[in-house]
Amino acid sequence: MPGKTTLLAPSILSADFTNLKASAELAEKAGANWMHCDVMDGVFVPNITFGPFIVKAIKQCTNLVIDTHLMIVDPDKYIEDFAKAGSDHITVHLEACPHLHRTIQFIKSLGVKAGVSINPATPVSLLEPVLADLDMVLLMSVNPGFGGQKFIPGSIAKIANLDAMRMEMNPDLVIAVDGGITEENAAQVAEAGADSLIAGTAFFRADDPMAAARKLKGLE
Ligand code: DX5
Ligand code: ZN
Repeated sequence: MPGKTTLLAPSILSADFTNLKASAELAEKAGANWMHCDVMDGVFVPNITFGPFIVKAIKQCTNLVIDTHLMIVDPDKYIEDFAKAGSDHITVHLEACPHLHRTIQFIKSLGVKAGVSINPATPVSLLEPVLADLDMVLLMSVNPGFGGQKFIPGSIAKIANLDAMRMEMNPDLVIAVDGGITEENAAQVAEAGADSLIAGTAFFRADDPMAAARKLKGLE
């Protein structure tokens, strides 16, 4: 029986990079809402992906909301470039930002929605001082760096804690959950309080991505 429905944000990381346009079209046709772009620098995380140039190319391929996840140190240096590339959301990591409040204000000053992400070992309580300023929190349910990892079960309690915190401090805050989302755990993650599910493997590597999307969104 369908439960709570969520937004779906396929992560381009697991898509076919020889044909980004087809990947974006597949996501759109499947009813996805955001295109999640994983930017990695080989320093904050042990992997390197792509920069603003590719985000701009993705933007040109789709009408989906461009959701840019910066897994990089010193993101302030590049935020403007990612905004110009067409990002609708820019999410930075709390662990990478010594002046997080300033970074959030900077993102918003560019007319882009501001998100903060926290790693599995970072408590949600650290978000409290900035929660009222944020458009979105991206809760990592795997250690960032790679697609295809297993969902960390302790993430469910963190989602529920964050859900309770936002009710008090910022009811409009969007909670997105990233990493190890599958057709099997999507409903539980949604029920815990997630509004948007990031899914790389479970969408792009599914035998039937159209059917997978409906299940991931909680439509069936
Ligand atoms: C991990 C990335 C995720 C990743 C999700 O560092 O932030 O967005 O692409 O991939 P799956 O859904 O395969 O765990
Ligand atoms: Zn991500």
